[in-house]
Amino acid sequence: MKINKLLAGLLASVTLIASVAQAAELAVVSGDTGNGLAFLQEQLKKFEADTGNTVTIVPMPSSTTDQFGQYKLWLAAGNADIDVYTTDVIWAPQLADQFLDLTDAAKGVVADHFPSIIESQTVNGKLVAIPAYTDAPALFYRKDLLEKYSKEVPKTWAELKATAQEIQDGERASNPDIYGFVFQGNAYEGLTCNALEWVKSYGGGQIVEADGTISINNPQAIAALEEIKSFVGTISPEGNLAYMEEESRGVWQLGNAVFMRNWPYAYALGNGDDSAIKGKFDVAPLPAGEGADARSAATLGGWNYAVSKYSKSPDEAIKLALFLSSTEVQKNRAIQQTNLPTIASLYDDADVLKAAPFMAAWKEIFQNAVPRPSAPTKANYNEVSSKFWSAVHNTLAGDGTAAENLELLEADLNDLKGSGW
Ligand code: GLC
Repeated sequence: MKINKLLAGLLASVTLIASVAQAAELAVVSGDTGNGLAFLQEQLKKFEADTGNTVTIVPMPSSTTDQFGQYKLWLAAGNADIDVYTTDVIWAPQLADQFLDLTDAAKGVVADHFPSIIESQTVNGKLVAIPAYTDAPALFYRKDLLEKYSKEVPKTWAELKATAQEIQDGERASNPDIYGFVFQGNAYEGLTCNALEWVKSYGGGQIVEADGTISINNPQAIAALEEIKSFVGTISPEGNLAYMEEESRGVWQLGNAVFMRNWPYAYALGNGDDSAIKGKFDVAPLPAGEGADARSAATLGGWNYAVSKYSKSPDEAIKLALFLSSTEVQKNRAIQQTNLPTIASLYDDADVLKAAPFMAAWKEIFQNAVPRPSAPTKANYNEVSSKFWSAVHNTLAGDGTAAENLELLEADLNDLKGSGW
C-alpha cells in the first residue's frame, strides 16, 4: 500500500517534470494600437496556464507599413526569435513562403470562419495565417453636434463637406481647435485604404483590378482625389497629412472633430471613461461619391496569426496561433476591443451585440468591402501600394494635380507590371 502510494507520487512528479520540460518559451510580435497589447497580455494568461508555455509579446509600432518592413528583414534573415507573427490581411501573398502551412492544424476550425477571409489567407492551397479579426471602416460622427445643428448623417462626400464646414464654423467660437473631418493622410498603407475608398466611392475602380488591369488613371478617380484635396486646410487640418489611425483618434477623442474615418477599434476606446466624447457619437457607412457608379465603399482590412517557419517550437507556436484566433478570444476581442470577428456565429451573440450594437450592420459592410489589389499584384503589392499612396499624398499636399499624379502612377505601375508581377 505504502509502496504503491510512493510509486504513484513518483510517477506524478515525473509527469510534471516531463510536461515542464516540454513547455516552450514563445514570442509573438504585435503592433501597438489603442490598448491592444494589454488585451493580448490578458488573453495570454489563459494560454500559459493551460499549456505551461510562456509567451513574450514583442511590441511593434502601430503602422502596418513599418511592421511589414521589419518583419520582411527578420524573416529574410531566418530569425528564430519570433514564433508567431500578427499579420495584416494584405501580406499573405508576399510572405507566404516564410510561414508554416496551417491547413492541417486548423482543419477542425476553418469552417467557423467566413470563407472569403480564409481564402484571403490561402496562397496556392497553403493556409498562411489564421484570422484574428476582420476590419471595415466607419464614418464616426458626433450625434450631439448633428442634433444641435439639425443635420442628417451625410450620405455623400459633398454633404459631409457642407455639414462639417457649417458645424466647424459654428463651434469654433467655443472650441477653437475643432475641425470638421479627420482621416489617415500620412504617406503609408493607411492612406492607400482611405484613398481606395474615395476612388471606389466615385466609381473609379480599385487601382489594379482582380484580372491585373491597371485602372487607376480615370476621370472618376481624379474627381475623387480633387474633392478630398479640397478638405485639406478647410474642414481637415493641414497636419492631417501626417496622421495615422492613432493621431486621428487622438483629435477625435478630445472632442476636436465632427467626423472621423477610422476602423471599429476606435468605437470601444471612444466610449472609454477617459474619452471626452463617451456616449456622444455613433457610426455609419462612409459617404458615397458622385457619378453613375457612386457607392459607399469600405476597404477590407483585418489581422491574422501566422507561424514562422524558423520557429524552434512549431507545434506550440501553432497552438498559440489557434488559441489567439479561437471563438473564445474573438468574442473577448469583439466585446473589449470592438474588433469585428471572423467567426460568423459571433454576429448573433447577445454579449457581443450589447457591447458593440453596430456590429449587426457591419457584417454586411465587411462582406461587401473592397479588397486592396494584393492578390493580383502578388509579391509586388507593397510597391504598388507605396506608389499609390505617394501619388495621393502628393496630390493632397498640392504637389501636382490629381490628373498629373495619376498619369505618372499609371506609367510607373505599367513598368512594374512589365517586369512581371
Ligand atoms: C487596419 C487594417 C489593416 C490596414 C491598416 C492600415 O489596421 O486592419 O488591414 O492595412 O489599418 O493602416
